[in-house]
Amino acid sequence: MRLVLLGPPGAGKGTQSSRLAGELKAVHLSSGDILRAERKSQTDLGKLAQGYMDAGSLVPDDLILRMMIGRISGPDASGGFVLDGFPRTIPQAKGLDERLAKLGHPIDRVVNIEADDAVVARRLTGRWSCPKDGRVFHESYSPPKRKGVCDLCGTALVRRKDDEPQVVSQRLTTYHAETRPLVEYYRGRGVLTSIDGNAEIDDVYARIVAACRGNG
Ligand code: AP5
Ligand code: MG
Repeated sequence: MRLVLLGPPGAGKGTQSSRLAGELKAVHLSSGDILRAERKSQTDLGKLAQGYMDAGSLVPDDLILRMMIGRISGPDASGGFVLDGFPRTIPQAKGLDERLAKLGHPIDRVVNIEADDAVVARRLTGRWSCPKDGRVFHESYSPPKRKGVCDLCGTALVRRKDDEPQVVSQRLTTYHAETRPLVEYYRGRGVLTSIDGNAEIDDVYARIVAACRGNG
């Protein structure tokens, strides 16, 4: 299965993709996670991306395309993938389509997780993540068993710098201007299903699974 999850910041793309990828035996490719790893290692790409990410704007398309096309073309992605946070602009979507046409494996489905700005803002400002294994929690909606500590590895949880209210607001503006047009792009290609993502995590998951089976 080659799947794209679209949706605003905080729609639950990361939460749902990691579970889906496990069940589909596909690789989960999150452009945001890859960029954060590049930043942590202080690579040239990581240093370049930093300013854009902290400001809530998008990293330039050419850098993102190079980074993501490399991952998608790798051997671990040959059995299928769940894309989370990529593509995010029309040029990125076109670049992805071109590459997949060459590989002979088009996208099977694009699931657009719709969620209201006020809902996602609450999710982002309460998010805590594990810096070691990337597991994501929410202080009210999916709290860790022990406050401030990862359930899996016991590492102290951290907050993302771009989850501060001012940056969240800019990320939402960026989403509406630059990423939202992808909904029409993929609708035109006949692969889009939109689902209501304002519900609880398990309900949203069930809707995504139904959409993948063509019952969405
Ligand atoms: P990225 O990391 O992709 O961030 P994002 O798209 O803004 O999305 P988030 O990761 O914040 O949210 P999510 O939808 O994954 O939600 P999550 O599951 O964590 O990108 C970061 C930055 O990198 C960008 O701003 C940009 O600068 C750059 N970048 C990345 N990709 C790029 C690209 N392709 N092009 C250019 N630049 C790029 O859930 C959020 C919280 O809500 C969690 O606490 C979770 O527990 C909780 N939650 C999830 N679902 C539910 C639910 N149904 N009910 C209640 N709580 C829920
Ligand atoms: Mg995410």
